[in-house]
Amino acid sequence: MSVRSAQETVYAYHQRTKHAFERYAAGPGHLDWATQPSPFREFKGAERVPLPLVSERNLIPYRALFEPGYIGAAKADLAALGLLFELSFGLSAWKVYGEDRWALRCNPSSGNLHPTEAYLITPGQPFLPGGVYHYHSHGHALERRCRADLAFSGCLVALSSVFWREAWKYGERAFRYCQHDVGHALGALNYAAAVLGWSVHLLEAWGDEDIAALLGLDREADFAGAEREAPDLLCWVGPAASTPDAIDIDRLLTSVQSGTWSGQANRLSASHRHDWPVIEEVHAASLKPRTLTTSGPPGTAAWPEIPCRSELAAVEVIRTRRSAQAFDGVTPVAADTLFRILDATGFRERCPPWSGWPWAPRVHLALFVHRVPGLEPGLYVFWRGDVDKTRTAPLFRDQFEWAEVGPESLPLFRLAVGDARDAARMLSCHQAIASDSAFSLGMLAEFDAGLREGPWVYRRLFWETGLIGQALYLEARAAGVGGTGIGCFFDESVHELLGLEGTVLQSLYHFTVGGPLVDSRLQTLPPYAHLGTRRPAPG
Ligand SMILES: Cc1cc2nc3c(=O)[nH]c(=O)nc-3n(C[C@H](O)[C@H](O)[C@H](O)COP(=O)(O)O)c2cc1C
Repeated sequence: MSVRSAQETVYAYHQRTKHAFERYAAGPGHLDWATQPSPFREFKGAERVPLPLVSERNLIPYRALFEPGYIGAAKADLAALGLLFELSFGLSAWKVYGEDRWALRCNPSSGNLHPTEAYLITPGQPFLPGGVYHYHSHGHALERRCRADLAFSGCLVALSSVFWREAWKYGERAFRYCQHDVGHALGALNYAAAVLGWSVHLLEAWGDEDIAALLGLDREADFAGAEREAPDLLCWVGPAASTPDAIDIDRLLTSVQSGTWSGQANRLSASHRHDWPVIEEVHAASLKPRTLTTSGPPGTAAWPEIPCRSELAAVEVIRTRRSAQAFDGVTPVAADTLFRILDATGFRERCPPWSGWPWAPRVHLALFVHRVPGLEPGLYVFWRGDVDKTRTAPLFRDQFEWAEVGPESLPLFRLAVGDARDAARMLSCHQAIASDSAFSLGMLAEFDAGLREGPWVYRRLFWETGLIGQALYLEARAAGVGGTGIGCFFDESVHELLGLEGTVLQSLYHFTVGGPLVDSRLQTLPPYAHLGTRRPAPG
C-alpha cells in the first residue's frame, strides 16, 4: 500500500468512526453475551513461572516517583519483575454483583475488555532463563513462549492488542479504543517501573513486523483457531540512571527465531457474530515500518514543576485507581490541585508516565471547568507544548478570550466563562460523568501534522492520549478524588463548540475528574486471593 493510500485509509477510518448526535459509529447493536471474549489470554503447554506479589511493606510515597534519584534502583530479581507486572497489568480487585464477578486491573480499559497483552523479553538471569514470556495476569505468572540465549542489559517489555476483544462490544470504533488502552498500559508500566527506581524507554526504531517476530505473533500454527494479536510497541526497562544498550534488531530476531518455542494461544470467543473489516484495513494502513532515525527526547515542559503533595503510598494509588461510575455533583477540586494535575500531563523526561517517550507533545486539553474554586466555570485550553498564541488562537472560535490564568508560564488559557455542564454532558454521549464532576476535558490532537509524519502516527496520537489519561487517573486518585476515561463523545460537535475546522485538531479522548460516588451494591474482593500465600507476609 502506498503511503498516500494508507493516509487516505486512515483519514477515512477516522471519519467513519466518529459518533454523531444522530448516528453512532457502526457497532453490533446489542451485546451477544454468549460470545463475550475471555479477558485472559493463555498459551497452553507453555511453562509457567509464578511471580511474587508486591509486599504490603512497600510504602514508597507516590510523590517520590516525581523526584528523580529519590528511589534507588531495585536489583533485578523475580520480586522486582513481579512488582513491575502486578502494578502495571496485574489484577487490582474483583467486583461482585449478584451472580456476576469480574476482575479489575491496574491498567484501565474501555469497557473493561482488556485488549492489551504484555510480554517480557529477557536475557538469561540466575532466576529466569533467557527468552520471551507472556504475562498471564489472572495467574500473575510468566508463560515461557520461547527459550533463547539473548544478550543485552535490562529487559524488554512489549505490548500487543487483540482487536476482537473491543470490537465485540464497540464495532468499528474499537481500533481507537485499543490504541487508547495501549497508551494507558504504557503509562501503567512507566509508573510501576518508577516504583522500582527503573525507567522505560520506548524503542522507536522497531517496526510492527519486527515486534511480531520477536513475540512470535507471526507463528500461524501457535494461533491456529485463536484470535490474533497485533504488535504495538517495545520498550527497554531498566535502572533509571542507565540508558538502553543499542540493540541490533536483526541479531535479536535471529536469536529468538532459533530458540525453542512452546504454547498454543487459547480461543477467546466460541464464535464471532460480526466481522469488522475496516479494523483490518486501518490496521494494515497504520503499520509502523522499521525506522532508522530516532527523534531524540522532546523538550521538557516549559513551565516550572508543580510538586505533588500526596501522602499516599505509590502502591496504594496504583492499586486503588478506579474509574468512577458516577460523580456526586458537589465535590470541588481546588485550583492548585488542578494545576498539579495539569502539570503531571506535561512532558518531563525523567518522570512517569513520560520517561522514555521519544516524541514531542502533539495532544492538548480543552477543559470544561465546573467546580474549581479560584477558576470561573467555563471553557479553558491547556497547551502541553510550546504555545504561540498568534498561531494557536486562530484555530479556535474568534470570540474566545485566551486570558492567561494560573501560575506564571503554565500554558492555561480561559476561552469563555459560563456553565459548561450541559455542553460537557451532551458532547460526551449524554454521560452525566462529564458534568457531575469538578472538570472534564477533551484531548485535542494535532492530527494533520501528526499524520504527515506517517500513517502509523495515527496510533501514536491515541497512545499519547492514553498516557495523559493514565496521569489523570493516578493524579486524581492521589488528590483524593476520582477520574474516568471517556471514549464515547460526539467528535464533530466537540469541534463545532470550539470552532475547530478541518482536521488540524481532532478530539480523540475525553476524561473527567471529581468526587466519585461509590456503588454500595458492589462487593470488592482482593485481587489474588485465588493464589493463596504468594504475597510476602506483612512485617
Ligand atoms: C479508553 C477508555 C475509554 C473509556 N470510556 C468510558 C466511557 O465512555 N464511559 C464510562 O463510563 N467509562 C469509560 N471508561 C472506563 C472503563 O469502563 C473502565 O476503565 C473499566 O470498566 C475498568 O474499570 P477501572 O478503570 O475501574 O479498572 C473508559 C476507559 C478507557 C480506558
